[in-house]
Amino acid sequence: MFDTTKMNAADALLEAQKIAFAPIVFQCARLLRDWGIFELLQNNKNGLSLEDISKKLDISMYIVQILCESGFSMGALKLNDDIYTITKIGYFLQNDEMTRVNMDYNHDVNYKGIFYLDEALKTRKPTGLHKTFSKDEDTIYPILTKLPKEAKDSWFNFDHFYSDAAFVDLIKIMSKKGIKNLLEPGGNTGKWSIALTKASPETKITILDHQGQIDIAMNNAKANDVEQKVKGIAIDLLDHSIPFPKDYDGVWMSQFLDCFPPKDIIELLIRSRDSLTEDGRVYIVEPFWDKQSHEIGSYCLINTSPYFTALANGTSKMYRASEMEKFVHEAGLEVEEEINGLGFGHTLMICKKSNNIL
Ligand SMILES: C[S@@+](CC[C@H](N)C(=O)[O-])C[C@H]1O[C@@H](n2cnc3c(N)ncnc32)[C@H](O)[C@@H]1O
Repeated sequence: MFDTTKMNAADALLEAQKIAFAPIVFQCARLLRDWGIFELLQNNKNGLSLEDISKKLDISMYIVQILCESGFSMGALKLNDDIYTITKIGYFLQNDEMTRVNMDYNHDVNYKGIFYLDEALKTRKPTGLHKTFSKDEDTIYPILTKLPKEAKDSWFNFDHFYSDAAFVDLIKIMSKKGIKNLLEPGGNTGKWSIALTKASPETKITILDHQGQIDIAMNNAKANDVEQKVKGIAIDLLDHSIPFPKDYDGVWMSQFLDCFPPKDIIELLIRSRDSLTEDGRVYIVEPFWDKQSHEIGSYCLINTSPYFTALANGTSKMYRASEMEKFVHEAGLEVEEEINGLGFGHTLMICKKSNNIL
């Protein structure tokens, strides 16, 4: 993370104000993007006055002034002689896909619920979920497909943006392994199952997930002509008394184990181990915050953890690779190979059965 030791007091105080005003700056940046001001300034390289912006977008001078002045303070806009131009920060807020996906997810899924982080942390219950989306659920996962449209779209866009990028690299690795039967807990909308069964004709995949996700996955498999190779089983994976189906030569868990606290991760890994053939492997795909090549990745991942507390389940987080290695070990598995830097910074941990069962 960025080195604050050489920062003078005034700079540090300014950074502290950026944090203190972060929710307000966030909303202004979002509206500068969504109400077309960034785009307009991007298309007018010589810049525009407040009056020009107001006229061209047909929005009031008051709105333009509030938003542009905040944009200037956050470094997204430059102001010279009453003329606003867009900066590199504004450019990324407008055009960078990762920034867009993160912003939508934080607005549509997290913004209201994160207000209750204190209660969620203390009770280890997703208080933000209960106050904003559903009073009755223990986790967000059974109701993912029933969330309000914006929240649902932004949740899936966020999830898929990161896993899709990793899947491009992972398909090249996994399609060479000749896997016949792969079990995929947390297979979600079937993106991985469809991609791998297309790339690797000998592979069949069984997805385990909640009913809503299984329904979407099976529809997607059908639309992609792989319904003969992709099977879906609706299950609550937190019920550890239900064993996984047996005789799989691989268990694939992508962006899945971070949905659980350590004790459940270990139980899920034990159930995965028990479903393997003798020389089968457990494949864990996760973006670990200590394995990122740039602090951008660590920053996003570390600050995704409070979503898990307030909105998702009250108990899980984004982990470090060393934590996951410990869980793997405790489940009677050992890491055979670790491949880092996939997509935007995912790691593939390939685990085999260990002889040292704890
Ligand atoms: C973060 S998504 C990962 C999706 C996908 N594997 C990927 O890489 O993009 C986690 C998935 O695990 C499923 N899941 C989480 N908890 C579950 C539970 N208790 N029972 C069944 N499925 C669960 C969710 O429904 C969701 O589809």
